[in-house]
Amino acid sequence: MKLMKAVRQSQFGGPQVLRYEDAPVPRLQPGEVLIRVKAVGLNPPDWYLREGYKTLPPEWRPAVQFPLILGTDVSGVAAAVADDVDAFAVGEAVYAMVRFPSGLAGGSQAYAQFVTAPVSEVARKPAGIDHLHAAGAPMSLLTAWQFLIEQGHMVPNPLQDRAHVPVPLEGRTVLVNGAAGGVGHFAVQLAKWKGARVIAVASGRHEAFLKDIGADVVIDYKRCRPETQVRDVDLVLDAVGGPTTGRFLQTLKPGGALFPVFPLGYEDDGEAAHLSVTVSTTQVQSSGRQLAEMAPLLDAGTVRVAIDGVFDLSEAAQAHARAAEGHVQGKLVMTVA
Ligand SMILES: NC(=O)c1ccc[n+]([C@@H]2O[C@H](COP(=O)([O-])OP(=O)(O)OC[C@H]3O[C@@H](n4cnc5c(N)ncnc54)[C@H](OP(=O)(O)O)[C@@H]3O)[C@@H](O)[C@H]2O)c1
Repeated sequence: MKLMKAVRQSQFGGPQVLRYEDAPVPRLQPGEVLIRVKAVGLNPPDWYLREGYKTLPPEWRPAVQFPLILGTDVSGVAAAVADDVDAFAVGEAVYAMVRFPSGLAGGSQAYAQFVTAPVSEVARKPAGIDHLHAAGAPMSLLTAWQFLIEQGHMVPNPLQDRAHVPVPLEGRTVLVNGAAGGVGHFAVQLAKWKGARVIAVASGRHEAFLKDIGADVVIDYKRCRPETQVRDVDLVLDAVGGPTTGRFLQTLKPGGALFPVFPLGYEDDGEAAHLSVTVSTTQVQSSGRQLAEMAPLLDAGTVRVAIDGVFDLSEAAQAHARAAEGHVQGKLVMTVA
């Protein structure tokens, strides 16, 4: 059996349950690419799963098998391709969001030197950015893309009985809450790319960063309540979300839309219908096709990946501890030797 280094856990818990140790190199299955991982991007589902998805209702929690290898977002090099795969050649640089959410119970297994991914989830890495930056993109950028540009799949959503439909952005006013984080900083850039006026809500230390990536107005939520500062907005993308997302309804025009990226806890009390506002959410799904569509934007610098911190894979516990401190600007990423 060939061995590699991976970060595994044998129980749920805090960052200390993450162990950097030997694990079998995954076996390539038909339809898959084996990726030699160069960098891994971190995302909130990593710590939700590490802890046992405590925020989900018990009936939704995946039946997890230990040992578990967390992680979805990788950039690396195709080390092998299955016989039935001709889209990629060995040695090509690729990036992917691996098996999300389909692989939740087993972990998507990206915190490792090697990971397999279905070919439909893989795209060529944008040549103009390095592996670290490419690994920072997949889940956050796919989320912003599937909310704002094209959902791109018809997978039923357990949180909403209708498909999510993006709204026009050109010439519209878009407020992004949580604008400096992973999803938020891409949402700001995609909305600008599509010709929107962007109001970014974040803590004050991110102001220069948010202006630099295109925000027209920055509101510091630590100094005021952002929902009292603006009116007649066309779209709110709330990358913080949760039970308080409904406070943004009052900022919207009739016909406007509120997209909570984290919708759990939001109770529809009829206010949205009363205001003629749509509330819509979706769950991000792996898509190599969409990553391929985004690659030219990343290549050209139209969309930039901001990196808040870089750790080695062996420091996954420290990376998770940093994430728990919050206030991340862009992405946390791990390098893989
Ligand atoms: N629907 C989906 O499929 C999907 C996909 C990906 C992520 N998500 C969810 O989306 C959320 C964001 O994910 P992420 O990766 O962007 O997280 P992240 O990188 O941690 O970003 C969160 C950002 O929110 C800011 N923030 C915290 N409290 C705030 C507040 N009260 N008002 C405004 N901003 C605040 C933080 O910085 P400052 O406080 O310094 O401004 C941080 O920059 C998570 O809950 C995640 O689970 C959902």
